Amino acid sequence: MPAIPQRNGGPSARIAVIPGDGIGKEVTPVAVKCIQAAAAKRHRPLEFVNFDWGADKFLRENITLPAGAVEMLRDEFDAILFGALGDPRVSSNQHAADILLGLRFKLDLFVNARPTELLHARYTPLRDVTCSDIRLMVFRENTEGLYVGVGGFYKKDTPDEIAVEEDVNSRKGVERIIRHAFEYARTHKLKRLCMSDKSNAMTHAGNLWQRVFKAVRAEYPEVDSRHLFIDTLAMELARDPGQFDVIVTNNLFGDIISDLAAQLAGGLGLAPSANIHPGRTSLFEPVHGSAPNIAGKGIANPFGAVLTSGLLMEFLGWNDEAHALKQSVKSALNDNITTPDLGGSQSTAEVSDYLTNYLSKHM
Ligand SMILES: NC(=O)c1ccc[n+]([C@@H]2O[C@H](COP(=O)([O-])OP(=O)(O)OC[C@H]3O[C@@H](n4cnc5c(N)ncnc54)[C@H](O)[C@@H]3O)[C@@H](O)[C@H]2O)c1
Repeated sequence: MPAIPQRNGGPSARIAVIPGDGIGKEVTPVAVKCIQAAAAKRHRPLEFVNFDWGADKFLRENITLPAGAVEMLRDEFDAILFGALGDPRVSSNQHAADILLGLRFKLDLFVNARPTELLHARYTPLRDVTCSDIRLMVFRENTEGLYVGVGGFYKKDTPDEIAVEEDVNSRKGVERIIRHAFEYARTHKLKRLCMSDKSNAMTHAGNLWQRVFKAVRAEYPEVDSRHLFIDTLAMELARDPGQFDVIVTNNLFGDIISDLAAQLAGGLGLAPSANIHPGRTSLFEPVHGSAPNIAGKGIANPFGAVLTSGLLMEFLGWNDEAHALKQSVKSALNDNITTPDLGGSQSTAEVSDYLTNYLSKHM
């Protein structure tokens, strides 16, 4: 059963590719090659269009997200394959905020889906845990919360300076992400759904999340839903991840808790994510950043990007190809074909060759 809601299931697709900065430029081409290898035997007509948005363009032309880009992506593409943004030469990180948050917000990609699955028991830091113990989905609200940039400074650059960051939660925003999580649980026959907030301390937003959760859960009696405060959830996730199937929470908590979950399944190099508005052009990106400390060395781990492209295939309705992409990564892990971050000695190119060979043999 696919993890991601499908866009159209059509026979062809146009995919916008935004590699971005640093290792984004190294792992994204691997993901594209793997998609092509997985799609080739079924003769799926696929068009990739590359966009060079990132730090180089920003420094050269002072352009972050070009005018008209959002409409163009929305109207002319099925999906966006994204690498990572972030460059030490741009200390403000302005280009990354404009491009990535801009696309998430302006395309209204309100679902940030972060599936976590332990693909090989070797990679969890937990003791006595098997692959079946770590298989869960984190749904993070992706368009509101503390990330909307509402706030300001008062008496800036004085000893009395005050900085205010507002936490924005709309009833519509809270309801659609909670409902999406319940729908997902129902469709996938998953029983255990956990909504998490900090309603004991952040009482206004928390109260809204609690009321909406109560109303929506009443419509899904077959789902065994519960609430945990976010600090308790963090403890429980580390203690016994097997107790969770689906987690739904706000933008900030989801950002943090999904990184914790990812770490339990092998870390950033293996973590995929999808930014979705069901039925509309959506954006797929590995969880990791641009890793300037290893950029250009040819050792970036492409698994996160390849697993991400599997989510993109699911979104297109191409489930066999999606399955094959995940199997190619599993097989590489079984055969110890990994980059140094996972303890191996292979380069990005060597891992890429393994994956594309696997896909051309097994599709
Ligand atoms: N979605 C995004 O585009 C995104 C996400 C996180 C961070 N960033 C940006 O990336 C830059 C670096 O941030 P950071 O260092 O906090 O996070 P990071 O994910 O780039 O790197 C953290 C650590 O993990 C390692 N790592 C990450 N991905 C790896 C991979 N695929 N293969 C091997 N090692 C990998 C890095 O070498 C580094 O040691 C910053 O500018 C940050 O703002 C962007």
